[in-house]
Amino acid sequence: MRGAVTKKDFLDFQSLGREEVLALLDEAQRMKEENYRGLELSGRVVALLFEKPSLRTRTTLEVAAVHLGGHAVYLDQKQVGLGEREPVRDVAKNLERFVDGIAARVYRHETVEELARHARIPVVNALSDRAHPLQALADLLTLREVFGGLEGVEVAYIGDGNNVLHSLLEVAPLVGLRVRVATPRGYEPDPQLLKRANALFTHDPREAVQGAHALYTDVWTSMGQEAEREKRLKDFQGFQVTEKLLDLLHPDGVFLHCLPAHYGEEVTEAVVHGKRSRVFDQAENRLHTAKAVLLALLK
Ligand code: CP
Ligand code: NVA
Repeated sequence: MRGAVTKKDFLDFQSLGREEVLALLDEAQRMKEENYRGLELSGRVVALLFEKPSLRTRTTLEVAAVHLGGHAVYLDQKQVGLGEREPVRDVAKNLERFVDGIAARVYRHETVEELARHARIPVVNALSDRAHPLQALADLLTLREVFGGLEGVEVAYIGDGNNVLHSLLEVAPLVGLRVRVATPRGYEPDPQLLKRANALFTHDPREAVQGAHALYTDVWTSMGQEAEREKRLKDFQGFQVTEKLLDLLHPDGVFLHCLPAHYGEEVTEAVVHGKRSRVFDQAENRLHTAKAVLLALLK
C-alpha cells in the first residue's frame, strides 16, 4: 500500500501527508470494489467509546471491524462515564489492557487528545467538537468517484463553520480540492484552516455555490448545541439548501450532506432525495473508508 499511515492515532489531518490520505482512499476504493472481507484483524478488538449518539459512525466502524475478521465493543457514556465516573486518563489506561484500538466520539476535542496521549493503542477521532476526519475521508471518496479525481474540484460548503467543515478544510489542500465557504456572521470556521486551504470565504451562499462542482451542508445545530437551537434557526435564515440554490451549481454538480439531516432547517427533503444528491453513496463510503482506517492503524 502506498504511504501507509505512520502515526499511532487518527485525530485529524494535521499529522497526515498527501500520500497517506491518497493511500487510504485507494485502499477504501479497492475494498468497495471487492466487497472486501478479510482476516487481517483476526482476534483484534476495537472499543467504540461514544459520548454522543450515532448511526453511521458506530455501524460502519463495527461492520468494518467484523469484515476484517475483528470485533468491536460498543461502550456508551451512560456505562463508562468518561471524565465523570472515571477520569479520561484512567479509561485510556484500562482500555489499552483490553483492546487493540479505540474509536472515540466526544464533546471536547481535548478528550480524544487525552485518550491518545495516555493509551499505547491507536485512537481514532469518531467526531469531536473540532473535527470529523472519518467523515472527510468518505466525502473525498465520494467526490473522487463522481469526478474521477480531486484536483481542482470545487466544493461549496454552506452553513455552520463546524467540525465537518473543519476536517474538509484541513484535508483539502493535501489532495488539491478547492473549498468555498459561506456561513452567517458569527459562525465562521477556524480562520487558520480557511487560510491554509486558501478557501474562498463569503457570507453569501449564492456567491459560494455559483459554478461549484458540489454543494455540501450540515446541520445548523450540532450535537451538544441544542440549547442554542432557537437562536441558530434565526441566525441561519437564508442558508437553507433548496433546489433553487442547487441550480447555481456546475451542470454536473452534486449535493452532499454528512447526515443526519434536519429537514426544513439546513436542507429540504427534495434536495436530499433529489437527482443531484449523492448523500447515500457518501454514507456508504463511510464503511469502506472505516475499513481502510482500521486496517492502517490496527493491522
Ligand atoms: N455522519 C455521521 O457521522 O453520522 P452519525 O452521527 O450517525 O455517526
Ligand atoms: N456537525 C454534526 C455532525 C454530525 C455527524 C454534529 O457534530 O453533530
